[in-house]
Amino acid sequence: MSGLELPILHFEHVTRRYDRFIALEDVSFVVRKGKILGLVGESGSGKTTCIRLALGLERPSAGRIRFMGRPYSYRSKEMKAIRRRIGFIFQDPYDALDPHLTLEEIIGEPLRAHGLWNVTARERIRGLLDRVGLPDASLRSYPTRYSGGGLQRIAIARALALEPELLLCDEPTSNLDVSMQAQIINLLMELQRERGLAMVFVTHDLPLIRRIADDLVVLYAGRVMECGPAREIAARPRHPYTIVLLSAMEAKIPHRSAWDEANPPVSPACPFAPRCWKAQPQCWKERPPRIPVRPDWEVACFFPEE
Ligand SMILES: Nc1ncnc2c1ncn2[C@@H]1O[C@H](COP(=O)(O)OP(=O)(O)O)[C@@H](O)[C@H]1O
Ligand SMILES: [Mg+2]
Repeated sequence: MSGLELPILHFEHVTRRYDRFIALEDVSFVVRKGKILGLVGESGSGKTTCIRLALGLERPSAGRIRFMGRPYSYRSKEMKAIRRRIGFIFQDPYDALDPHLTLEEIIGEPLRAHGLWNVTARERIRGLLDRVGLPDASLRSYPTRYSGGGLQRIAIARALALEPELLLCDEPTSNLDVSMQAQIINLLMELQRERGLAMVFVTHDLPLIRRIADDLVVLYAGRVMECGPAREIAARPRHPYTIVLLSAMEAKIPHRSAWDEANPPVSPACPFAPRCWKAQPQCWKERPPRIPVRPDWEVACFFPEE
């Protein structure tokens, strides 16, 4: 995914271990300025870990992350400068918003945290509430007055308070009902376009990813299976796991059983081998290399689709 422009976020061979458990292994991808990167994979594949690493809430066990070309340093001053430029929205707004704080306190919190609270702050918060579709909301009201969709709008207003260049969205609509999902997605897409935001969008909703993402990263058991242009991958996936994920085939292949969970393939092997209909002995023994389909498209498989 090389381009002439410097990527806004760059994961370089990032590994994250929790004791002996490897949540992410050798994960590389870039988020391009103003573009939407879809991050997909089943539960436990490491998506939220990627988001936490991007926010600097955790450090890689190996590898490196860069923001606008500069490696994360984890010194608090430098990390704060990076975090100022990254907004985030999590799955559960009930969890993310403190019910004891007013909307003004919630949305203004990033401004205060970065020493940017000033005489225009309230006006700015009003403008944000207006923009996210809550024009009548009182700054002195509490989030307990709102349901899922309203809460997620408040979370979006907070995420935008510092005018970030990158917005990280971790399954932002998976706890909402269907009609509310569409409204929130439409709002996010409008904001993305009007502000030229780069986005990492974590979701299980593959039809949605087909519609909105420019680039796609497919994770399985903490490894990148396939990575490249979203629409082209969706039209013609090369990795067997991407094929499974994008089609209704999921039901037809063996699910990961308790036995598989307890007996993962040896670490260097392909983690998808136990469920893959194409797996050969090699797949159980060796790590598939990242094979370029094109310069901007890679697949980690010995036997990708032609
Ligand atoms: N703090 C932690 N300690 C131990 N294991 C963790 C921790 N955080 C995440 N994990 C494990 O890492 C794996 C990936 O988790 P996560 O990134 O949350 O996946 P996803 O968001 O794709 O569902 C899971 O198996 C999870 O149990
Ligand atoms: Mg998650």
